[in-house]
Amino acid sequence: MNDIVLTGDRPTGPLHLGHYFGSLANRVRLQERLTMYVIIADYQVITDRDEPGAIQANITELLLDYLAVGIDPGKATIFQHSAIPELNQLLLPFLSLVSMAELQRNPTVKDEIAHSSQSAVSGLMFTYPVHQAADILFCKGTLVPVGRDQLPHVEVTRLVARRFNERYGQVFPVPEAMMGAQPLLRGLDGGKMSKSRGNSIPLRATEDETAALIRRAVTDGDRRITFDEEARPGVATLLTLTGLCTDRAPEQIADEIGDGGAATLKRVTTEAVNEFLRPIRRRRAELDPAEARQVLRAGNDRARATAVGTLEEVRLAMGF
Ligand code: TRP
Repeated sequence: MNDIVLTGDRPTGPLHLGHYFGSLANRVRLQERLTMYVIIADYQVITDRDEPGAIQANITELLLDYLAVGIDPGKATIFQHSAIPELNQLLLPFLSLVSMAELQRNPTVKDEIAHSSQSAVSGLMFTYPVHQAADILFCKGTLVPVGRDQLPHVEVTRLVARRFNERYGQVFPVPEAMMGAQPLLRGLDGGKMSKSRGNSIPLRATEDETAALIRRAVTDGDRRITFDEEARPGVATLLTLTGLCTDRAPEQIADEIGDGGAATLKRVTTEAVNEFLRPIRRRRAELDPAEARQVLRAGNDRARATAVGTLEEVRLAMGF
């Protein structure tokens, strides 16, 4: 069977190195041999905030990140929730397939609620994983390259696909998650790396901004640099990052730094990250935002045609 790949991001801010090693690198590799859809999950932005904010600017920035890392619109279909009514309509039958208890015990949703600054948790916060099932199933996606935090959502999708097929006959494949080389890269403060937590290195940051971010990273006072994820999470994060950017083992980098202390480690990390991101940043600077938006319009048209077909199948299967 030929896999169909679906993955994507919320347009809430620039993509960072966690996205790159967790998912983007995989996408660039997979687009060569598989059908690939990349969703700009714009309706998902309003799960943990009241309003979408600078949504158009964020969508353009996300597109530029995609194109800069090498997602090729000739090979992949880039599209957005809000342009595909038929995808969104799948949410309705899909919601009937899951229980409230299942929605409430999703660990990623719980973590997002804990970090949300909203005074009230919206219904969408609990139901967006089912909406995400619609993102994956509208194109009959079979492979979902994501970071570790997204695994519960892929589980929801599998549940929805299985239950739909049981109740109404075989329509959907049951997709698999696929994790990158570094499924969960910790942030520079030791917590989950996140666009909204200010602890990540954006792909589009300048070299000076990158240096400043790494200078502020949490480490410890032990001059001897060793790789110990449990006892020294801050040091381990910088070593991991350097290892990913230079394609070496973090232990080897620790050995090379030896007694150099956190200052040397941070200098080495900064150089590795800036070197790694230089070609991506150069490509990004050369891109035309108007052309990027044109890429999105063309992708929306293609994705919509697929969604129309799937919704029709779903209606027929359900007897509507
Ligand atoms: N929830 C994902 C994130 O926050 C974005 C997303 C939306 C997604 N729909 C998806 C990822 C479907 C994979 C598949 O990053």
